[in-house]
Amino acid sequence: MRKNIVAGNWKMNTTLAEGVGLAKDVNEALKNAADVKCDVVICVPFTHLAPVAAVIDGKLGLGAENCADHVKGAYTGEVSAPMVASTGAKYVILGHSERRQYYGETSAILKEKVNLALAENLTPIFCIGEVLEERENGTFLDVVTRQIREALFGLSAEDFGKLILAYEPVWAIGTGKTATADQAQEMHAHIRGVIAEKYGKEVADNCSILYGGSCKPSNAKELFAKADVDGGLIGGAALDAASFMGIVTAF
Ligand code: 13P
Repeated sequence: MRKNIVAGNWKMNTTLAEGVGLAKDVNEALKNAADVKCDVVICVPFTHLAPVAAVIDGKLGLGAENCADHVKGAYTGEVSAPMVASTGAKYVILGHSERRQYYGETSAILKEKVNLALAENLTPIFCIGEVLEERENGTFLDVVTRQIREALFGLSAEDFGKLILAYEPVWAIGTGKTATADQAQEMHAHIRGVIAEKYGKEVADNCSILYGGSCKPSNAKELFAKADVDGGLIGGAALDAASFMGIVTAF
């Protein structure tokens, strides 16, 4: 059966000292929390990976926010999947809308990144989602279908089964405007159907699909109560241990 997961995406926030402090706080809070019913992951800037790995326990998962589309070589400024894995990280966010929008990441590039991440036994948290115009003109289901098909449908069923998906409507990211629980459920059920069509019902049923976009302690319970919403990918609210834990304990 699929796992419930709450993952933080710190984005480009915190200095190293602040980040290590935040990771320690989350780690401590998680250790002391009585009844945690989900896996918990923090995805942090590259510079923070190794120092954060050194201060957290196995109970808290660690991930990067991106990795390169090449394995090594003359790619100044890039960080490869093997480098990420060598820090102790187990996850990597790929295809975040901010990477697609500001850094020109296409499905072809993301396909490479997914393959390289899987080759290092990193679990990709693969993001998909429509922009406001696509929500308003009614093409949002098709847009997300295409994002999944283009980047992921070259994978074997076994490899597809290693992915976590995150539906993040771009209009809900950092805007305070959350998708309603019904809007999230509609899309998550659609995504599961798209997976089932290609890989069969078992692979689809076992895939964790997270919701992201202005998720906070006050709305997490309602979102997570939906049948096809298996957790959250959390931006702003992951930058404070108490609010992040408020989401973790919403399960
Ligand atoms: P916010 O939770 O800040 O809206 O960000 C969501 C997100 O982009 C997580 O990847």
